[in-house]
Amino acid sequence: MDDENQNENFCNGSLNTLISWQKHLKVRQMCQKFVMNNKKLTVFMNVLSNLIDLGLKKETHDTSTIRCFQTYAQDIPTGNEQGRYIALDLGGSNFRVLNIELDVGRQFRMDQETFSCSKQLMAGSGEELFDYIAQCLKDFLTKRKLESEINLPLGFTFSFPIYQSRLDSAILTNWTKGFTCDGVVGNDVVKLLNRSIAKHSGLNIKVCVILNDTVGTLMSCAWKDPNTKIGLIIGTGTNCCYLEKIDRIEMFDGDSSKEEMVINLEWGAFGDKGELDDIITKYDKTVNRNSVNPNQQTFEKMVSGMYLGELFRLLLLDMAKNNLIFDGHVPEILLVPQSITTNVISTVESDVPETYTLSRQCLQKLGIENVTESDLLNIRYAAHCISRRSAELVAAGLAVLLERMNEENITIGVDGSVYRLHPYYHQILVNKVNELVKGKSIKIMLSEDGSGRGAAVLAAALNQVHCIYFVVILNLEL
Ligand code: GLC
Repeated sequence: MDDENQNENFCNGSLNTLISWQKHLKVRQMCQKFVMNNKKLTVFMNVLSNLIDLGLKKETHDTSTIRCFQTYAQDIPTGNEQGRYIALDLGGSNFRVLNIELDVGRQFRMDQETFSCSKQLMAGSGEELFDYIAQCLKDFLTKRKLESEINLPLGFTFSFPIYQSRLDSAILTNWTKGFTCDGVVGNDVVKLLNRSIAKHSGLNIKVCVILNDTVGTLMSCAWKDPNTKIGLIIGTGTNCCYLEKIDRIEMFDGDSSKEEMVINLEWGAFGDKGELDDIITKYDKTVNRNSVNPNQQTFEKMVSGMYLGELFRLLLLDMAKNNLIFDGHVPEILLVPQSITTNVISTVESDVPETYTLSRQCLQKLGIENVTESDLLNIRYAAHCISRRSAELVAAGLAVLLERMNEENITIGVDGSVYRLHPYYHQILVNKVNELVKGKSIKIMLSEDGSGRGAAVLAAALNQVHCIYFVVILNLEL
């Protein structure tokens, strides 16, 4: 190569670097609103803390966006629980039936089967949904020759907002996470399920406890680690529960011989009355507008797995349209709503820094080829902003609860696909929580199948008799 050509290449190289750098700066500007700082988080924390107070007060409980539902879970496991249980787990596009055996020394064995919950089922009638669950339960028990067992107590993890007045009764207040089955809202889910079981399966089995997945997670971790006081889910949806002193729960009507009760915050609804408008982006607004439940579950739509992929798609689409990636070309897939799942974010962020092997493979699968390093850098940055915002907002929420608790050592049980699959979500959570809360020793612990085992543990803690329990879990987290 002669000197002139070399100079020209060098100039082209520098020019390309400059253009790439300018594009990257624009991408950063575009993502700026996703970036949280401690000032924004402090405002977020103050508002959330006030809403929790309102949720716990009789007068304002019904109107607070943070509902603070009583769960009647007051028997925290000791770790000595034993016995065989069956759980049903419903909370997402799959539901599971589990046969769980708790043993001495905090040992457990679990046998489970997953059944899919089709889109038609999620949008059909409540009766069809519960009939299907009853049928799957029957198939599960028949396969294991357990169908003729009598007095099988059943635990039901039902991961939706429920108003409880006892451990074995729960009125669905509203559907979330894409479910819209009619005839369920305002009704007792336990009755609906028991009716389907009696009608269709001929089984002699009844639900003895119903619980939210956050409660299952708390219970399941408390069984292993008695310092567990908070249960958290960051999966298809997000939610949190915590142990509250009964004298701080104004509408408390549980067992007053016990000092605490688990409160289900249903924090996914945070922001539904505009409380998060200052930090919401135009992409969040689009996700909300296109959802089946507009203006509901605002916080959930900023944080959880059902929505992060779609946020990512909208952001990439905007970047492509503005000629910041793909040389201004808009790949077909970015025009298709819901075409990018939250797993794509996790994969893109799993590459070793400065390498893009997984990202390239993943984009290729989506039909996006010929991407440059500059594109990949920007795509990773967008993914990072979305997942980091999610983790930092969750950390701020946890900080509010940790501040309320007069305890020095607290373990937080966590479950959910976003938390489990993202390469460093856990680390962001840990760092941010420790930055926001001083003077406490905080442990964040992955719950091994909180939704399933938690139902068994709650049933066992409630009734420490050595008999067989059946716990049914309806959970869409898988
Ligand atoms: C949704 C549900 C809530 C559940 C959470 C996590 O927010 O309303 O009950 O705990 O998803 O599955």
